[in-house]
Amino acid sequence: MTLLLNGFELAQRCRAELAERIKTLSRAPKLAVILIGDNPASAIYVRNKENAATEVGITSEAYRFESIYQKDLLSLIEKLNADDGVDGILVQLPLPEKLNEKEILQAIDPAKDVDGFHPLNLGKLMIGEPAPVACTPKGCLKLIHLAKPDLTGLHAVVIGRSVIVGKPMAQLLLRENCTVTTAHSKTKNLPELCRSADIVVVAIGKPKTVKADWLKDGAIVIDVGINRLENGKLCGDVDFDVCFDKCAAITPVPKGVGPMTIAMLLENTVEAAEKKLKN
Ligand code: GUN
Repeated sequence: MTLLLNGFELAQRCRAELAERIKTLSRAPKLAVILIGDNPASAIYVRNKENAATEVGITSEAYRFESIYQKDLLSLIEKLNADDGVDGILVQLPLPEKLNEKEILQAIDPAKDVDGFHPLNLGKLMIGEPAPVACTPKGCLKLIHLAKPDLTGLHAVVIGRSVIVGKPMAQLLLRENCTVTTAHSKTKNLPELCRSADIVVVAIGKPKTVKADWLKDGAIVIDVGINRLENGKLCGDVDFDVCFDKCAAITPVPKGVGPMTIAMLLENTVEAAEKKLKN
């Protein structure tokens, strides 16, 4: 029997728990969300993040710009860094090409970096220090734990090497005592490599790429992809229907990783507020 890893339900449980934690704080946590440009997917993600924040009791403050100069965006981030009432700052990616993404992400106060993209926080993840962890990999790990609490000694293959998903995911799985292989677009014999994996995390960005013959019997499969097909339907990077029976556990798309990414953003915001309000 295959376990369907329902991210929608798990995210609901996470959000209910966060709402209770927020009630014990002396004030509501506050999240500043910055969106630049006209990417329609980003606009939807930001709206979903704002709505989810409001629902659990986080105050969200959105800054939307059609375009902005690098120096003005840096000034806004400095202002938000200095504002004691702001607990988390999120700059939605991708940024328009004119902007220097690395400089922007490094300008965010690491204590308010609810995305976990600041080099200091990525470094802390690598050396095993507590720090905000990127939301999508953090959510993926919670989903994997639904299937198996102890991952010690398992072979995990992470397909994708982005700073948003692949690299932090590999670090999190290492921390769980997995043997981790990071694969990417230049990896040779990818289907064969995948077949040796007990856990496969797929973040390729190409619809229905992973097929049943890529998988070991009983693999745990986490699909980070969100692709829109010509018929308007969403699908993942894994060919869900043909892979389902082969897996011990698999995430659907939609209602898999997506809702968990948002829940983990809320969790990182609450953690940042708790830390600040305790000091
Ligand atoms: N774009 C795609 N995923 C993310 C994310 O987790 N955070 C931000 N800020 N932008 C993204």
